[in-house]
Amino acid sequence: MLSAMRDRSASTAKFRRASDALAPLLCEDTIEAMGEAMGEAAGDSAADDVTLVPVLRAALALLPAFTTALPSAPVGFLGVARDEETALPSLYYENLPEEPTRRALILDPMLGTAGSSRLAVERLIVAGFAPENIYFTGVLAAPVGVERLSAVIPRRNITLAAIDDGLDTQNFIVPGLGDYGDRYFGT
Ligand code: PRP
Repeated sequence: MLSAMRDRSASTAKFRRASDALAPLLCEDTIEAMGEAMGEAAGDSAADDVTLVPVLRAALALLPAFTTALPSAPVGFLGVARDEETALPSLYYENLPEEPTRRALILDPMLGTAGSSRLAVERLIVAGFAPENIYFTGVLAAPVGVERLSAVIPRRNITLAAIDDGLDTQNFIVPGLGDYGDRYFGT
């Protein structure tokens, strides 16, 4: 699935099919990781009481798989845009449930500099979540992003399909797969 998504010539339909096929597998691994973090053998009960937090816009691609697996989970939204020149994140939308659940799961397919995901973690801490109860699930990461995110939430709370070689001079993941949101949404 990753190979299909990395293919520069893949159409929107091919990219979407691969992403939609990958998302339920990432979801299974995430629920298992939540179970392990809680010292439980099976993940199902551990997945209760979790708020799903997709980071707009690319994470909307992953969300249906997670709402299917966790049909009663509340969903909160964070809109974070990464400046194309500086790679610095800015928050443009926030709509989190008023009553925090015990755990929060940030969804964002790409973990580059970790600027966006660390901003998401900050907002969730302000909303009342403890750092050890904040999880992150993504598709691709740069090693530096994993390192920076692991400084604010436990490494075992981070689930990824792959960790790539690094970042290029413009802070894009290499080899990467381009801009996930643009490719999934055909823009
Ligand atoms: C991309 C991606 C992550 C972020 C990762 O989003 O979806 O949110 O950049 O980079 P970072 O770890 O260096 O912060 P983008 O700002 O392009 O927005 P989009 O989802 O609307 O395409």
